Amino acid sequence: MKLYNRTIVVTGGTSGIGLAFALKLLNRGNKVIVIGRNQATLNQVTSKHKGLIGLQGDVSNADSVREMAAVIRDRFPEVSILFNSAGIMRAFELTDDNLHLERTTAEVGTNLNGTIWMTEALLPQLARQNEAMIVTVSSGLSYVTSPLHPVYSATKAGVHMFTDALRVQLKKSGKSIHVMELVPPLVAETNLIPDSGGPIPSMSLDTLVKHGIQGMERNKKRVVPGLSKVLRFGGKYFPDALANAMARG
Ligand SMILES: NC(=O)c1ccc[n+]([C@@H]2O[C@H](COP(=O)([O-])OP(=O)(O)OC[C@H]3O[C@@H](n4cnc5c(N)ncnc54)[C@H](OP(=O)(O)O)[C@@H]3O)[C@@H](O)[C@H]2O)c1
Repeated sequence: MKLYNRTIVVTGGTSGIGLAFALKLLNRGNKVIVIGRNQATLNQVTSKHKGLIGLQGDVSNADSVREMAAVIRDRFPEVSILFNSAGIMRAFELTDDNLHLERTTAEVGTNLNGTIWMTEALLPQLARQNEAMIVTVSSGLSYVTSPLHPVYSATKAGVHMFTDALRVQLKKSGKSIHVMELVPPLVAETNLIPDSGGPIPSMSLDTLVKHGIQGMERNKKRVVPGLSKVLRFGGKYFPDALANAMARG
């Protein structure tokens, strides 16, 4: 798909992977709308990067998703790409007596519900374009569980399965909407894991963006760069050994 002169919505576009893709796409002559919950961060990002358009909203809140979809439909009816990057990752012990239900399912709300809801809410609008694309962002941790983050991998495996189902349904319906899953390994320069400094080498944001943009231009179904390829293989043949290794941090 040609990535020029398009209008693109990037959820989680105020930081890390979403922001890096938003800036690359902006610099290539596209109109880019970035979504995040925090209005102060949106203001900061849009005043630093002229041309980026901010839209405040929470992908884990159904009312907010409906509101964002209505604003996008009214103000930007030409949107042809949805890039679902909003995501969170939480470490906790399931045996902790102080845990509460909302805490353990926060990742389900943002990573899984958020991806499904934004996709569903923008689909009618995307379907009206000559050509459109939906990108989902899963993770190498969709192949291997991270026991330190007991719910994260479950949400990313869910994103993976949802993406495959979506692609097949859209193909059957004859709609010209490409569906690509980006499967990042651990990536540097993001705020997902603020205290990460562990032994696993990370990919630079720049390298990830190069892989992702190339995949989008070539209408790839899936982009699995760097260590994610290893996790894909390892998760198939040595899931228990890898889960135990991940538990050691
Ligand atoms: N970083 C990695 O190593 C890595 C590896 C594999 C996969 N991923 C995936 O890549 C995606 C982006 O992660 P990142 O590393 O770029 O994280 P990040 O730097 O923490 O950025 C997360 C972005 O999502 C937004 N966000 C979070 N919850 C939201 C919600 N409920 N509604 C709307 N926006 C929300 C944040 O803004 P607000 O807080 O203002 O809402 C921020 O813009 C995530 O899906 C993550 O799981 C990351």
